[in-house]
Amino acid sequence: MTQKIDNILRESRAFPPSSDFKATAHVASIEQYQRLHKQSLEQPEVFWDGVAKELPWMKPYGQVLDWSEAPNARWFVDGKLNASAVCLDQHIEAGHGDKVAILWEGEPGDRKTFTYSEMLAAVCRFANALKARGIKKGDRIAIYMPMIPELAMAVLACARIGAIHSVVFGGFSAQALADRITDGGCIGVITSDGGWRRGKVLPLKHVVDAAVDLCGAHCPVHTVLTVKRTENETKWNAERDVWYHELLEQVDDVCEPEPMDSEDVLFLLYTSGSTGKPKGIMHTTGGYMVGAYLSTRHVFDLKADDVFWCTADVGWITGHSYVVYGPMANGATQVMYEGAPNAPTEGRFWELIERYKVSVFYTAPTAIRAFMKWGDQHVDGKDLSSLRLLGTVGEPINPEAWMWYRKKIGGERCPIVDTWWQTETGGIMISPLPGITETSPGCASLPFFGVDAAILDGDGNELGENEGGFLAIRKPWPSMLRGLWGDEERYRETYWSKWPGNIYFPGDGARRDEKGHFWILGRVDDVINVSGHRLSTMEVESALVSHDLVVEAAVVGRPDDLTGEAIVAFVIPAGSATQDASVVKTLKEHVAVEIGKLACPAEVRLTDALPKTRSGKIMRRLLRDIAAGREQKGDMSTIENPAILEQLRAADV
Ligand code: WT7
Repeated sequence: MTQKIDNILRESRAFPPSSDFKATAHVASIEQYQRLHKQSLEQPEVFWDGVAKELPWMKPYGQVLDWSEAPNARWFVDGKLNASAVCLDQHIEAGHGDKVAILWEGEPGDRKTFTYSEMLAAVCRFANALKARGIKKGDRIAIYMPMIPELAMAVLACARIGAIHSVVFGGFSAQALADRITDGGCIGVITSDGGWRRGKVLPLKHVVDAAVDLCGAHCPVHTVLTVKRTENETKWNAERDVWYHELLEQVDDVCEPEPMDSEDVLFLLYTSGSTGKPKGIMHTTGGYMVGAYLSTRHVFDLKADDVFWCTADVGWITGHSYVVYGPMANGATQVMYEGAPNAPTEGRFWELIERYKVSVFYTAPTAIRAFMKWGDQHVDGKDLSSLRLLGTVGEPINPEAWMWYRKKIGGERCPIVDTWWQTETGGIMISPLPGITETSPGCASLPFFGVDAAILDGDGNELGENEGGFLAIRKPWPSMLRGLWGDEERYRETYWSKWPGNIYFPGDGARRDEKGHFWILGRVDDVINVSGHRLSTMEVESALVSHDLVVEAAVVGRPDDLTGEAIVAFVIPAGSATQDASVVKTLKEHVAVEIGKLACPAEVRLTDALPKTRSGKIMRRLLRDIAAGREQKGDMSTIENPAILEQLRAADV
C-alpha cells in the first residue's frame, strides 16, 4: 500500500441544497466558490487580506504570508491582536453586548446564560485572577475542566493575558495529564472540584493532585486554581491551591487585552501520532483566529440569529475552534452542555435542541451511531424544526448513519456538512459549503478556501479520478500548526517529509471523484480512531508493556459499529498465555489508569508469540485481519513464525 490505496465503496446518492437554503447562504453559487477558491490559492495575499481585515487588529500586519522558511510559516507578519478581544470586546464595541453568547446547561439540569458583556466581565476577572498568581504572557497553563462556562472563560482569560493554554480533556488519566504538564512546562493548572457525567461526579481536582505528584520534585506547577462546581471534597495544599471564587473577590473586572504578535503561540493541544509520545501541537494567534473565524462563518453559514451547538468537549480541537474561538469571533449565540448525551435519558440532546431552538448542530459520527442504536423513540415527538444545518466531524461517517441523521434529525431539509480536518490544521479543511454543495453520504467534498488538496501516490504523483491515494495539502494555510512544542525535528519529519517541496502530509487516505469531491478513506498510519479520538497504537502498547504481567504487546484497530474503530491488544503475558479473565481485566484497567478510559482496549488477547518478520518487525497487517475476523491475505512469505497465526485465530473469544 505504499503507492495507492484500494477503495471499493461507491455511493451514488446525492442531495443538492434546497432553494430556500441557497437563497440566504453566504456562499450561494458554485461559480462564486470556484472564483474565491482559485483566488485563495493563486493570490493568497489578496484573499486572506480581505478576510483578516475584518478582525480587530491592534497593530496592522505587513506581509500576509512569509513562507521563505518553509515549512515554518509566518502569517500576518508583525500584526498584533488579542484572541479574547476578537471573541468579546469587538462585539460589545459594535453594540452587541446584550446578545447571548452562551446558553449553558449542566447535566443535572441547572442553567445559566451569559451575554457577550457578561462574558467579557467574567473573562477579565478570570484574567486578573491569573495575574494575581503571577501568571503572565508566555507562561503555559494546563486546563483540566468539565464543560462548564468557566472552561470557555479560562481559555479566553489565558488568551487575554497572553498565557499559552494547554487544555487536557477531562477523561485523561493523571499520568496523561502529568506528561502534558511536564512536556509543556505548565506553571499553573485550572481545574474544578468536579464535573457531572452520567449522574456521577468526575473528581477532576483529585486527578490534578495525583498528576502534580506524578510530575515529581521538579514539578513546575505553582498554582492550582479550582472552580467550585460540585460539593466534592478535595485535598488542599495551602501553598499551591486557590479557590477561584475566593480569588475573584480580590480582583476587578477590567483587564486590558495583551497585544499579541500574530505568531505568538495561542495554545498547545496534545494529540497522538503513530510513534512516540503525544505531540504538543502549536497554534499561533493571527492565522488561527482568521481560520477559525472564516471557516465557522462559511461552513456553518452562520447568521446573526442562529443558535449554534457544537457538542464537542473543549478538550479537543473541535471545542477550541468551534465552541470557543470560531463562534465567538463571529459573535454567535451558542449552546454549551456539560454532560453525557444519555443522561438522564437518551433524548437529552433533542430536548436541548428543542428548548434552545438550535439551528446549526455539529456532532460526531460515533454519537450519531449511538443515537441510532438507542432508537428513534427518543427523537420522535421532539420539535427539531429549528434546525437548518447539520454537521459531523472526527472520522469517516458510514452512509447509514448519514442517511439516518439526514432523515431523522434533519427532517430531510437540512444539508449535512461532513467536515474533514485535524488538530494540526486548526480549522475545517475539506467540507461541503451548505448553500452550494451537492452532498453525498460519507463525502467530505470540497477543499475550503486556501486549501490546495490533492491525492498523491507514495512518490508524489497526482492520481486520477477515483484512484485512492494519500491526501496531501500543497500550500500553507493560515490556521496550520506552527510546529510541535519543543520538537522542530519531529514536526518536519511527521508532516513535511513524505514528499519533497514542502507538501503537508496529514496521514489520511482519500480519493477524488469525477465531480472533484474528496472522499476520506481513513488513516494510513498506526493511529486508531476511537469515537473520533486519535490514539496511537504505540502509546497503548507502551502502557501495556509498563505492567509487570506483560512481556510484549501489539495493538491494532478493528471496525466497531459504535466507536468506529475499537482497540484490540495482542499481549504476550509473563506467565501462561491461556485466556485468563482476571489478567485481561487487570490490563484493561491498567491502560485506563495510564492513559484514560478512552484508550481502554475492547479486547485483550493473550498469546505465546506475535507474528513477526524475519527482521523482527511485528506484522500488524495480519493482526488487523485477525482482529477483524477477516481472512489473512497478501504476502506471507516474510513471516517468521506462521504457526502463531493459528493460535491467534483460536484465541478469538
Ligand atoms: C483525524 C484527525 C478535527 C477534529 C476531530 C478530530 C479523522 C476527522 C473526519 C471526517 C473522515 C475524519 C482523520 C483525521 N477525521 N474528520 N470528516 N471524515 N475522517 O481531530 O483528533 O486531530 O483527528 O480524524 O483521520 O486525520 P483529530
